[in-house]
Amino acid sequence: YMKKLKDELLSIPTSDECKDAAGFDNNEKESTVSITVVGASGDLAKKKIFPALFALYYEDCLPKHFTVFGYARSKMSDGELRNMVSKTLTCRIDKRENCSEKMEQFLKRCFFHSGQYDSLDNFAELDKKLKEHEGGRISNRLFYLSVPPNIFIDAVRCASSSASSANGWTRVIVEKPFGRDSESSTALTRGLKQYLVEDQIFRIDHYLGKELVENLSVLRFSNLIFEPLWSRQYIRNVQLIFSEDFGTEGRGGYFNNYGIIRDIMQNHLLQILALFAMETPVSLDAEDIRNEKVKVLRSMKPLQLGNVVIGQYKSHTKGEITYPAYTDDKTVPKDSLTPTFAAAALFIDNARWDGVPFLMKAGKALHNKRAEIRVQFRHVPGNLYKRNFGTDLDGATNELVIRVQPDEAIYLKINNKVPGLGMRLDRSNLNLHYAARYAKEIPDAYERLLLDAIEGERRLFIRSDELDAAWELFTPLLKELEEKKIIPEYYPYGSRGPVGAHYLAARYNVRWG
Ligand code: NDP
Ligand code: BG6
Repeated sequence: YMKKLKDELLSIPTSDECKDAAGFDNNEKESTVSITVVGASGDLAKKKIFPALFALYYEDCLPKHFTVFGYARSKMSDGELRNMVSKTLTCRIDKRENCSEKMEQFLKRCFFHSGQYDSLDNFAELDKKLKEHEGGRISNRLFYLSVPPNIFIDAVRCASSSASSANGWTRVIVEKPFGRDSESSTALTRGLKQYLVEDQIFRIDHYLGKELVENLSVLRFSNLIFEPLWSRQYIRNVQLIFSEDFGTEGRGGYFNNYGIIRDIMQNHLLQILALFAMETPVSLDAEDIRNEKVKVLRSMKPLQLGNVVIGQYKSHTKGEITYPAYTDDKTVPKDSLTPTFAAAALFIDNARWDGVPFLMKAGKALHNKRAEIRVQFRHVPGNLYKRNFGTDLDGATNELVIRVQPDEAIYLKINNKVPGLGMRLDRSNLNLHYAARYAKEIPDAYERLLLDAIEGERRLFIRSDELDAAWELFTPLLKELEEKKIIPEYYPYGSRGPVGAHYLAARYNVRWG
């Protein structure tokens, strides 16, 4: 009883809770899941994928029979892989009694196979090893392509051919970037579909796995008070903000070929926008939700150069420390025009959102790290308290803020009477602060997404028509920026970004939150 009480107090999730959350069916005792991390020697595998798999194992969310295989060209023994992986595993809640024991158990389920990404023979060897571990059970195979995009097709060709001997499902998780524009994205999809059907492809946008992004639909569709206000009638503008307080350190080579618009806006922020603005889906079924998202994206106008501001960070000295410019990175050409910052105004051409500016802002090397959705409501018509606000009526409108990270929160700015005999108003927050309300730590986005892929839940993955619609919005702008060699506005490392972003917002009577 004491143990149960303690668990409840600490809000430690139980395997039952995980089962409920994931629809995981423990009756499938005679099946097994083999998870192969292709590119296991890389940064993402170490930083995110193995730790997420361990967290799922720790929470008893993985099926009873599972094996994790690392695959890469690097030469490593099983022991060396385990050693590498063990360095990045953590127990999410400190001082959990059996954490190191669980780590040991997890690591024993991890193996490594070295091979080329385009070698059918090497994948056939992997297949043989997987079969030994599967021990004659129904074999389900999940391949996580954590490699640079030019390797995707070769790896899928080889993985799908080796997996053809499996008698359960085969699924492939693909990491972004999904192309650089409409054309290359279509070519990638066509290439993948030579070997897989759409239902086998799980395109990850890890922002969809973030707790507050998943909560967006709950907030809208399970509270009477929000949905009726969710339109041009009451909402003045919506802001989608992503900022990081560090530069492209270590990833300049990748970044220079993509830039912030492809890295953050076309995927992470646009996905949030689609979830925010979509109509009520018929059900929570993945296809119903994705149908609604596609409809919103297809109702949007492609971005106009005049509605976009781009920037690039330059070096800045603060006290004793000099922060580098983007072009100080050795892997970035000195004359690079790649934007590390962008702000844009987007519009949705439908009855609900006609004329409402959706303002996006994304940047690296800014003054803070945050991802937020800010919803600014219209003025109260004929406001009785107008004179109590002076001239700053804008500052007196309601604002709903969904802070995706860090320090997750949802708060609503309201006008309130300052207690006392006079009639003075101020702005106060109705605040749902996650750390204060929920004792349980929020799972990493990759945990949820990996679990969903194992469960075959596609709701949080990008369907190919969604991807096409997303690229159609951004491709003309990206081409124009590159063809016209538009020079970015330079901003100091650690600043609030280019002033152009403020002028852009001002054009639509918006003040960035
Ligand atoms: P890495 O550059 O670390 O590559 C992963 C592995 O792929 C490497 O360890 C290497 O393994 C192999 N590899 C690298 N370059 C080549 C090449 N030119 N030819 C053949 N093999 C190569 O990538 P990340 O781990 O950083 O990312 C993996 C994927 O996830 C990429 O598509 C990336 O864009 C995406 N991504 C990464 C994020 C991150 O934070 N790292 C965030 C979001 C997406 P070996 O030499 O052993 O074969
Ligand atoms: C990745 C981008 O998709 O998301 C990176 O490629 C960015 O440039 C990262 O740093 C941000 O993710 P998170 O989860 O740390 O906000």
